[in-house]
Amino acid sequence: MTRRTSLVAFALVAAACGAPAEPAPDAPFGSLLAEAPPPPPVDEELAAEGERLYLASCAACHGVDLTGDPNWKIPRDDGTYPPPPHDASGHTWHHPTSQLVDIVLSGTAELGGTMPGFAGRLDEEQIRAILEYFRTTWTSEQRAYQWQATWQAEQRDTS
Ligand code: HEC
Repeated sequence: MTRRTSLVAFALVAAACGAPAEPAPDAPFGSLLAEAPPPPPVDEELAAEGERLYLASCAACHGVDLTGDPNWKIPRDDGTYPPPPHDASGHTWHHPTSQLVDIVLSGTAELGGTMPGFAGRLDEEQIRAILEYFRTTWTSEQRAYQWQATWQAEQRDTS
């Protein structure tokens, strides 16, 4: 399977998961991949700090091993979705870092979800540490994609 095909297959899964704030990349995946600079290596120290914070604040819903609820793609009776995984089996890696930080700070209530916001409890630096922990569980291709999406979002913000 080509890289492009696997990413398109992923997009269908992400669309089916129903979580709010799905990204809408302006460019097709092919050009997104072509433009991106190489991702930085994982910062192990930051990731270890992130794991501690994750276990204290997030694991109750997203699972101690980041695997989320096994039924995360199936809406509950009230139309809300169970917590998704954040490891390689999820879609967290599809979102730019700035967007992930916003979701964690604000929560998903305004988007019809059930995740609480962590503003006032975690600062942006702590959330970035948690995201660094997530990165340790992604494939190198997922890390590269997420880095590129982050980079592209930054280009949009500064242009
Ligand atoms: C009370 C349960 C709960 C807690 C606690 C919680 N989440 Fe969530 N989270 C959810 C649910 C449910 C969703 C799916 C969106 C929705 O329906 O609200 C979600 C979605 C997300 C998303 C967007 C989907 C994705 O994979 O990109 C991110 C990022 C996220 N959570 C990170 C965190 C982090 C980091 C923490 C801890 C600081 C945390 N969550 C704590 C329930 C929770």
